[in-house]
Amino acid sequence: MSTEAPKERKSKQIKSKSRVRNRGEVFTSEREVNNILALTQATSNRYWRFLEPACGDGNFLEAILRQRLDHLKQDRIEWHTKNREFSVLKVLSTIYGVDIAEDNIAECKKRLRGVIFDYLPKKTSKEFLLAMEEIMDTNLIVGDMLNGTDKIFFTEYSTPAKGLFKRRVYALTDMELGIESVIKEYPTVSYKEMTHGE
Ligand SMILES: C[S@@+](CC[C@H](N)C(=O)[O-])C[C@H]1O[C@@H](n2cnc3c(N)ncnc32)[C@H](O)[C@@H]1O
Repeated sequence: MSTEAPKERKSKQIKSKSRVRNRGEVFTSEREVNNILALTQATSNRYWRFLEPACGDGNFLEAILRQRLDHLKQDRIEWHTKNREFSVLKVLSTIYGVDIAEDNIAECKKRLRGVIFDYLPKKTSKEFLLAMEEIMDTNLIVGDMLNGTDKIFFTEYSTPAKGLFKRRVYALTDMELGIESVIKEYPTVSYKEMTHGE
């Protein structure tokens, strides 16, 4: 029997004093994240869209993804080998984060990748990996949520049928005004054809 402790991120709550001073960067501890999530409905439906406007390096987003994948794993149909990759992408596509610091977004993507590989340890398809990166690039954004909202766009992923994604892009400034104006719409495609950076 392994005596190793379960894998847990040894989170540092502060990277530097200047980052705290300049951007109020103090990360939430794992215990607080779990307590806060337990008080919300963030994980009660695995396909509800969740946006964290100052996501840091992903403390909340990692926990949400992990809880949603735990949930997904219990679903025999969604977790069936032939559906699993698409189901994981569908869950990933519901998670959005913005942060002003580029290194935080890079770290956040790395952590979400790590969670996905914890759940899909066996070889995944090349197409899955490309689609995963595409979704993370559209959903985890470097941006200024106070003074730069006009430069922030979100891609809505919907799933008209198994294996297929429909993507529509919206401007945050329109969304804030309740305007449903689609900036760009992509043809519906299989996740296997969702080319990176298209
Ligand atoms: C208090 S930390 C919280 C980080 C994360 N939500 C957590 O709980 O661990 C605040 C975060 O907001 C980011 N931030 C500060 N000003 C911002 C802005 N104008 N737009 C977007 N993110 C910003 C910082 O880079 C930092 O990562």
